[in-house]
Amino acid sequence: MQFREINPSPRLLMCPGPTDADPRVLRAMSAPILGQFDPEFTSLMNETMEMERRLFQTKNQQTYVVDTTSRGGIETVLTAAICPGDKVLIPSFGRFGYLLNEILSRSGADITLIEREWGTVFEPEEIEAELKKGGYKAVAMIHGETSTSMMQPLEEIGKLCKQYDAMFLVDTVATLGGVDIRVDEWNIDACIAGTQKCISAPSGTALITYNKRIEDIIAKRKRVERGIRSDADVDGQLPPIPSNYLDLAQLQDYWSPRRLNHHTEATSNQYGVHEALRCILMEGLETRFARHILNDKALCAGLEAMGLTIFGDRKHKAPVVTAFNIPAGIQGPALRSALLNDFGIELATSFGPLDGKVIRIGNMGYSSQKRNILLTLGALEAVLLQQGMKLPAGDAVAAALAVYKQADK
Ligand SMILES: Cc1ncc(COP(=O)(O)O)c(C=O)c1O
Repeated sequence: MQFREINPSPRLLMCPGPTDADPRVLRAMSAPILGQFDPEFTSLMNETMEMERRLFQTKNQQTYVVDTTSRGGIETVLTAAICPGDKVLIPSFGRFGYLLNEILSRSGADITLIEREWGTVFEPEEIEAELKKGGYKAVAMIHGETSTSMMQPLEEIGKLCKQYDAMFLVDTVATLGGVDIRVDEWNIDACIAGTQKCISAPSGTALITYNKRIEDIIAKRKRVERGIRSDADVDGQLPPIPSNYLDLAQLQDYWSPRRLNHHTEATSNQYGVHEALRCILMEGLETRFARHILNDKALCAGLEAMGLTIFGDRKHKAPVVTAFNIPAGIQGPALRSALLNDFGIELATSFGPLDGKVIRIGNMGYSSQKRNILLTLGALEAVLLQQGMKLPAGDAVAAALAVYKQADK
């Protein structure tokens, strides 16, 4: 039997994650391994924390990386901040809102789930109506709901959380690095993101930040494991965090000057995160956010010019993902496989009520480039024509180019 060398076909990842990793990140990941307590490596960890603070726009000391996918990052933070029996409000407007519910219900939280039709977001009044009922320890919600392409405005909800003394726990997995997110200004107590979307590094690391309020809860749940605990380690009075691997109390000590020897570091992944954050800050946050907005505008103009309709409430569509309705007579799976096989371009379907109804296009991080938008539009038009859709050939790319031309003025 012959085993193949890893030599992937060229692909353009225009799905909403994973996206193309920045080549500089992949290069950094191939650097030789350092020991995790080598001062050269721990100083890189400190730089990562500082760069992450700038990206999250926070002063939180506790801003670091967990070796797990975004889902693991969410689970790490939520299961530490929320104790069994705590009352949590989850306003859900898509698949990933349900994921928060799934994670918290397994950890014994007392959840109130409120739902919105997919393709819409919540009004602050809807959240307030629930918070007014009292007793909520936290509100947990998604910023960019990748499944529907909607982006929930957070600022007003953050104010409400402060007013009603509930922690505000937010998943910014789809948006961090592509959209302006102001953790401190918006009263977000904890924020979680992944690296495989707008950060443009491979999946497998989660970026997290949380404030003093959550640090205090963690301190009360801390239980350092036998074999590495010292005489100074006193168990907290609250129930311990249920996971050992995703134990925020021990992870926090690992990312602190104590450097608690919790797990063996995935050093190559840390190189990747460091380089990805460095590239983001070098580009500049404002420039980066403006790039995503412009490419989104060009993409939507192109889609509409070819006669496609964009799914959901346009006012709240995230600039980093767009879903279009699959036209009558077109088969989503055939469309996607023609794009992949003939053009090497990957787009995505969606989930639940949207499965088979929409196609989702990512506009994230390194993939968010003018040439990628134009290539995707051109290829999509060709495949739709091939599948029998009547459309004004050539208009899509022309409409996108007109957007870029206008922006150059
Ligand atoms: C908004 C959101 N949250 C959470 C996740 C889960 O992330 P992961 O697959 O990296 O665990 C995703 C993945 O697509 C997502 O889009």
